[in-house]
Amino acid sequence: MIVIVIGSGAREHAICRLINKSEFSEKLTCIPGNYGISKIAKCINLDNSEDILAYCLQNKPDLVIIGPEKYLAEGMADELRNHNILVFGPGRQGAQLESSKDYMKNFCKKYDIATAYSETFTNLDESIKFVRSRPGKIVVKYDGLAAGKGVFVCENTIEAEEACKKIFIEKIFSDNNTIIIEDFIEGKELSYFVLIDDNSYQTFGSAQDYKRIGDSDTGPNTGGMGTISPAPILDTSLEKKIIDNIVLRSVEGIQKELIEFKGVLFLGIMVDEVTKEPKLLEYNTRFGDPEIQSISMRLTSDFLSLVHSVATNNLAYSDIKFNEFEKSICLILATQGYPENYPKNTIINNLDSFNGSEDFFIFHAATYQDEELVKTNGGRVLSIVASGDDYETCRKKVYEVANKIDWKEKYFRSDIGLLF
Ligand code: GLY
Repeated sequence: MIVIVIGSGAREHAICRLINKSEFSEKLTCIPGNYGISKIAKCINLDNSEDILAYCLQNKPDLVIIGPEKYLAEGMADELRNHNILVFGPGRQGAQLESSKDYMKNFCKKYDIATAYSETFTNLDESIKFVRSRPGKIVVKYDGLAAGKGVFVCENTIEAEEACKKIFIEKIFSDNNTIIIEDFIEGKELSYFVLIDDNSYQTFGSAQDYKRIGDSDTGPNTGGMGTISPAPILDTSLEKKIIDNIVLRSVEGIQKELIEFKGVLFLGIMVDEVTKEPKLLEYNTRFGDPEIQSISMRLTSDFLSLVHSVATNNLAYSDIKFNEFEKSICLILATQGYPENYPKNTIINNLDSFNGSEDFFIFHAATYQDEELVKTNGGRVLSIVASGDDYETCRKKVYEVANKIDWKEKYFRSDIGLLF
């Protein structure tokens, strides 16, 4: 198969690695890709949607896999399908489950999916009145896409008011003046994945994401500083509740709304500390980053065949298998200063001296080559991933490599895999 993967992150690097391992892969292109991806796929340096679409239409691949939510929300999958190109990834309507928190909340109400109580606001005064009426910890969410930075978990009313002001007055995201404010649920979080086509669904693994920048879950939220897979809190009884109360109802909703999904639904779930019931925090309509980096190491089925079966509505005939005895850990190396201000064009000296294997890999997110040097151009830069019989074995490996990487500006958490 001739495949095009769209995106430039470690998620897309993980996807490309899986495709490269497939017996069905003939030619792999990634747009725009990065330095790491360029070692296993042809990278085409385009980053605006029109050019990417034009490239795909001209090259007529057998399958396009869209990684980032931005392109899904813009309707790139619809455009490609209108031109008879097979795509893994939902169209604009399905992508709304992620791109609008208000749409997601209404969907949950309609299909009786357990989620935190929330209200939607379009102006500052009403939102401040509401947070003052609900003292204590509370969550303010920007309605649109915000690269993992649109959720404010506020310790008190003052913090919540500040979050509302940032969105309505400072307009830190855009002119979209919609937020939702929801009750904070105390508990443990996990990421759960489901492949969906027009006829069926199949579950696709789990992970625990370490979202805060600092050890012991302190400091601001990030896109994710590491993951472990499978999520340690996921036992048979919790998984049954997730499937019965969230997955089946979500799939039913997608079918009843006539949403052409054909992709992956990523459920951000909080397991309520008091009731032990899973509640849906958010939907994402693409693979998680850094979740897929750790999940991918445990997959034993042919990934390309799986995603192709989703794009062709044949998922029901596919068999998804993970190595159920294997654990895996992904540790993110970020540029010091992330998620706030950080330098770009820093140099990593010895990256090419670490060879990937079946149970170890370094995925790149924000690397490029400048003559003989490997340089950085982003916050979260490397995903060091190891798999093995237990989390301790994986931890030892990823931290050994993290310490050896010769990059002056590197930063990483020290407790990935320790804190369950
Ligand atoms: N790790 C969270 C996300 O991909 O949105």
